[in-house]
Amino acid sequence: MLNRIAGIDFGTSNSSVGIFCNGKPDLLDINGEGTAVPSAIFYPDEGVEAAFGKRAVSQYTQGVEGRLLRSLKSVLGTSLMLEKTQVRNRRVAFSDIIEDYFIFLNTQLAQQTNQPVDSVVLGRPVHFVDNDQKRDAQAQEQLAVIARNAGFEHIEFQLEPIAAALHYESTLAKEELVVIVDIGGGTADFSVLRLSPEQHAKADRKDDILTTMGIHIGGTDFDRLLSLHSVMPSLGYGSLVQGTTRALPGSLYFDLATWHKIPLLYQRQVQAKVQQMLLDAQQRRPVQALKTIIDERLGHSLARAVELGKIKLSEHTETDIQLLNDEQMLIDVAVTRTDMQLAIENDVEKLRACVAQGLSEALLSPADVVNVFYTGGSSGVPYLRSVFEQMMPQARHTQGDAFGSVCLGLTIDAARRFA
Ligand SMILES: Nc1ncnc2c1ncn2[C@@H]1O[C@H](COP(=O)(O)OP(=O)(O)OP(=O)(O)O)[C@@H](O)[C@H]1O
Ligand SMILES: [Mg+2]
Repeated sequence: MLNRIAGIDFGTSNSSVGIFCNGKPDLLDINGEGTAVPSAIFYPDEGVEAAFGKRAVSQYTQGVEGRLLRSLKSVLGTSLMLEKTQVRNRRVAFSDIIEDYFIFLNTQLAQQTNQPVDSVVLGRPVHFVDNDQKRDAQAQEQLAVIARNAGFEHIEFQLEPIAAALHYESTLAKEELVVIVDIGGGTADFSVLRLSPEQHAKADRKDDILTTMGIHIGGTDFDRLLSLHSVMPSLGYGSLVQGTTRALPGSLYFDLATWHKIPLLYQRQVQAKVQQMLLDAQQRRPVQALKTIIDERLGHSLARAVELGKIKLSEHTETDIQLLNDEQMLIDVAVTRTDMQLAIENDVEKLRACVAQGLSEALLSPADVVNVFYTGGSSGVPYLRSVFEQMMPQARHTQGDAFGSVCLGLTIDAARRFA
């Protein structure tokens, strides 16, 4: 019976699928790539087979001609959902692309369970869209339609930070007031809850959820900020137009630093802009490297190098970010944790303020918090952790399964709702 239910965490960067097995939640190994795979689809120009997850990313980075789509969750609830994008020689709606990804996940489920899965709890951020309830509701409805078209019959939603709390609660021995901090690729989601082993099996936990809050800041923002702070200057960002005290225009650098805007740089009209920058620049060498990156379509490789640098800085105090083509080193910069801190401190302050406001609206003070439980890939950033530790110094700070807690919690929730 329980084989027919699943939890799905469709993340901005990574997705996971959980099933309930022998009385506990378990994550599927998706396509032999692990339990959290990139939320990415690659449509090659030649042939009909799309690739998903790690395979999608590797086909693209190996230079197979085609279109890579990532961060599709960010499109839900926006006007882009009504638009079509070029895939092979057709125009395809973003909803159909997300549906292809859900069909991929459902096919994985069907292959690994004995019965078709028809009932699913889907995770959702606290806000798909900030400060717009109507569009936020539309985003959830769009996702429900997509899941239904992909073969799921009974679809329910759970907030991602509540799901993570349900998973953490399954390990608790006594009642605790907990702040859940879930910082992923696209959003930061928080919840403040009273968790206890006695209440764990109850389906309705409204009384124990003291507040939830969310904001559109995540790891892809940290990538952009680190890139603009530490990498783009080596391509001429912020440098002067010759004979003036004016800086070169920044728009191409912003696009190059922003994952989903990189394809815009490969449009024909950009070539003339770069050419003009090359003529105007006081120092031509950095802008020449920018031109090479655009001409050779190395934007995603650069964004990936910056992301890997950022991840390294969670372990080490300094690292190098490099990009080379067949002939030369185009970028070689040393970055430190201090650079990372300077780059992201405004955003981290917004995250701190979001939690402070949530606590105060729930009539709590930071001193009431017994435990801060972290999940999501970006929760590992040391500067961010230090800010939360300073804010709630008396609390325990517990690292959950960064890429699994939300989906395990969604699966626990699915078992309770559909059993
Ligand atoms: N060790 C690390 N240090 C810092 N950032 C990391 C680390 N590992 C992964 N990340 C970042 O975490 C992000 C992905 O996290 P995660 O998979 O939790 O997001 P998601 O669930 O897909 O997104 P969301 O929940 O916002 O929709 C990426 O931006 C990635 O660069
Ligand atoms: Mg997530």
